[in-house]
Amino acid sequence: MSKVHLIDHPLIQHKLTLIRDKTTGAKDFRDLVSEISTLMAYEVTRDLPLENSTVETPICVSEAKVISGKKVGIIAVLRAGLGMVEGMLRLIPTAKVGHIGIYRDPETLRPIDYYCKLPSDVNERNLIIVDPMLATGGSATCAIRFLKDKGATDIKLVVLVAAPEGIKMVQENHPDVDIYAASIDKCLNSHGYIVPGLGDAGDRLFGTK
Ligand code: PRP
Ligand code: URA
Repeated sequence: MSKVHLIDHPLIQHKLTLIRDKTTGAKDFRDLVSEISTLMAYEVTRDLPLENSTVETPICVSEAKVISGKKVGIIAVLRAGLGMVEGMLRLIPTAKVGHIGIYRDPETLRPIDYYCKLPSDVNERNLIIVDPMLATGGSATCAIRFLKDKGATDIKLVVLVAAPEGIKMVQENHPDVDIYAASIDKCLNSHGYIVPGLGDAGDRLFGTK
């Protein structure tokens, strides 16, 4: 069974409260989502392997560590995942970025996919899927399936707000994918929105609706 990592650093909790606030406008919402993503990138990359190297400081030559192993790919689930990309790239600037377009049918809540553009070597990368919301889990489950169909074997899912229902669906379908969340909220409402949540992340990021 995959692990759920709750990244509840005080700075993240504070910024999350600000984006939950319905009076927070699109610009602040975008900035805060980006900042939280940077803070989460720090935790998500905690297990990147290191190798020994040397460095010549102004004083002497010293043993040193550098990151080794596979390269990173950041996969944004459109639209709202776009809001997390810049924040992640701030800490992992050499990552390649892929995009998977998925939206929820408002009636059935089932994921509808409409776009996919991935780095050609996704199968050789440590992949980090970013999407602010994990609600029913349909979109994340579908995005992970896309990546696995392209040969990806090392996938993490990073969300800001997760519902227990979404965590359950991802864990049942993809027990090898760890989930990183800034909050695990109470439940979904009858329209499939996370309670208390923050509303529609895509609309709040881009000022639509
Ligand atoms: C939101 C969100 C997730 C999805 C989560 O996207 O960004 O992708 O809903 O819901 P689920 O877990 O029930 O699938 P949305 O469908 O609103 O598309 P958008 O980002 O283009 O607005
Ligand atoms: N998608 C969102 O943007 N918000 C929710 O609460 C659920 C799905």
